[in-house]
Amino acid sequence: MPTHLDIQSFPTTSDFGFSGGRDNFRAFCRRVFRAKEPRFLRTPENQLVVFRHADLLLFGTAPEIGNLPIGSMYPNRFKKGAGSERPPGWEVGEVIGSQVFTFNPPLHGPARRMLLNWLGPKQVSQMEGLARAVARKVIGRMRNGETIDLVETVADAVVVGFWGKLLHLTDEETATIGRCAHDMTRLFHANRSQEDLRVLDQAFAEYARLLDLAATRGLERGDPAMLEIAARLKELDFPDDPHEVGLVPKSVGAVLAGNLVDGFHTAALAAANTFHALLQNPEALATVRSAPETLPRAIAEALRLEPPVLTLSRYVLRDFHFDDLILPAGNKITMIWAAGNHDPSVFSEPERFDMSRPQAGLTTFGSGIHICPGRYAGVMLTRVMLEEFANQAVEFRNAEAPAEWIPDHFMNQLRVFPALVSRVGPSR
Ligand code: HEM
Repeated sequence: MPTHLDIQSFPTTSDFGFSGGRDNFRAFCRRVFRAKEPRFLRTPENQLVVFRHADLLLFGTAPEIGNLPIGSMYPNRFKKGAGSERPPGWEVGEVIGSQVFTFNPPLHGPARRMLLNWLGPKQVSQMEGLARAVARKVIGRMRNGETIDLVETVADAVVVGFWGKLLHLTDEETATIGRCAHDMTRLFHANRSQEDLRVLDQAFAEYARLLDLAATRGLERGDPAMLEIAARLKELDFPDDPHEVGLVPKSVGAVLAGNLVDGFHTAALAAANTFHALLQNPEALATVRSAPETLPRAIAEALRLEPPVLTLSRYVLRDFHFDDLILPAGNKITMIWAAGNHDPSVFSEPERFDMSRPQAGLTTFGSGIHICPGRYAGVMLTRVMLEEFANQAVEFRNAEAPAEWIPDHFMNQLRVFPALVSRVGPSR
């Protein structure tokens, strides 16, 4: 006879010292994977926490486990009789309500395809030249012997510059979005303050305004990608349902703003974290420099070791039956995706950089029908940056000041990563 999963019986994430941020996450993994028990954890608010590799895949691929609807993220906003008041966080909600992250069937599939039609592997490979031109310019400016911040000077500059060029934004508009993307970091603070929300609202409103402008101009210019998104958007003929299915984006600009938050923000973390993992592992860096064909494997291993996304939410759409247990519909779930990559039952000696380890089962980008549709763009940008360092014979080494990771944060994110630049030969 199946029984309801007793969430309250599990220890909390705090019992295992999890508060977010890279070093804390690593210490948590060492502690929690030491034994076979507990299978699950709970948040202090009694939300189920899934962290073991097998369970991340079980829950991540189950059709009963969907995305967290916008109405569950912002319950007051969609309550019957909600007034016209705009509490802190409103502008963030405006953008996120158009993100595939908040959609479920039947809207989720076609909306996701609309995105993949633009950012699928074939399309992204055609964007590579643009990314390379941006990376070449950024790396070309570096002077021998100078100390730079690999986060701001390289990862953020190339990632934001790439999307800016792709969307035909002016340099000034791109720089403004860069500042907004920097402020978006506060979205992932474990203990968001009112000041965080104020800054976030400003950043999201400005970012959404500029992406709307980019979409409008793109449509006027007859940009095929924008026209295609507009055509697909018209086909999304579903009534708004904030509590499960989602809200159909109201414009092409809303599609771009909603779904490029990670484009502008998280993709830069992927690059910076890869640089960090390689600098910490000189043998791997030497291998990549001498055998460039190993680069994709090195990036995958770097992102296994330093996955940008630590946790994300999911939601139980229908009662989920598993192993004689039932998790009832309506429950929110915290998925510690990054922990899948550090589960020693799948990745032995998880803190060791090992380019030869099998790469099946990585949880860097989630899994199942929700697996990150932006992963091709994210990985391409990281690869192109590393290739351009090699093409321009620019090497970077650890500077005197150490890299700093943001503590109490649900992303594995470097605040600053000082590095010393050496030009070791002529550019190719
Ligand atoms: C490169 C670094 C990135 C990482 C580590 C990352 C990670 C993730 C993860 C863990 C998920 C959850 C998947 C799941 O629940 O199974 C996800 C979903 C998603 N990501 Fe990314 N992401 C990255 C970049 C991007 C980029 C560049 C974009 C957009 C251009 C993007 C857009 C999305 C969207 C829209 C979803 C929701 C997909 C769905 O529910 O179907 N991500 N990402």
